[in-house]
Amino acid sequence: MEKLTGPKKIKTAVFISGRGSNLNNLIKFSKTLKSPIIIDLVVSNKKAKGLKYADQYQIKNKVLNYKNNKITEKKILLILEERKINFICLAGFMKILSIDFIKQFKGKIINIHPSYLPKYKGLNTSVRALNNNEKFSGCTVHYVSAKLDSGKIIMRKKVKIIKNESETSLDKKIIKEEHKLYPAAIMKIFN
Ligand code: GRF
Repeated sequence: MEKLTGPKKIKTAVFISGRGSNLNNLIKFSKTLKSPIIIDLVVSNKKAKGLKYADQYQIKNKVLNYKNNKITEKKILLILEERKINFICLAGFMKILSIDFIKQFKGKIINIHPSYLPKYKGLNTSVRALNNNEKFSGCTVHYVSAKLDSGKIIMRKKVKIIKNESETSLDKKIIKEEHKLYPAAIMKIFN
């Protein structure tokens, strides 16, 4: 990955679909001196709650209706090209990117997932971990590849599951770790 010299930062887009706590966290991180990235664009497939953070920090945002995947991805690629985006962070983005899209940004799309991958790919990770009486769950930042939640792992962190743990309490512990892990993984990639 490109090494940074001087104040030049990697122009980054964050893709979201939901509440956007990771987006908020990444924006705050991007404003620190040490951050290798600058967040230039937020992309969403719906009017997500998290878009309020883009507004708050006056970051350009695009909401795309995903009626047709191919056409929508083409539109997104055009916007990314226009804004010279060089790196993409998925943060709760609920659409699966096509192989063609991923190829265009090979090795430049990362995702955060609320489990200790390769365990519990897909949705409802905490409920499944609890139902299986796991001793721990966690979170993972990984490169995005054609296979869901299966790209090369960049960093991951375990989170202990205690006796009588509820889904809510586990999710709370995991998201707290996500907010540390995502910036740490980005630092790892670019330094
Ligand atoms: C996070 O748990 C993330 O791991 C998953 O989706 C959730 C997004 O949360 N991919 P938020 O919208 O960033 O608060």
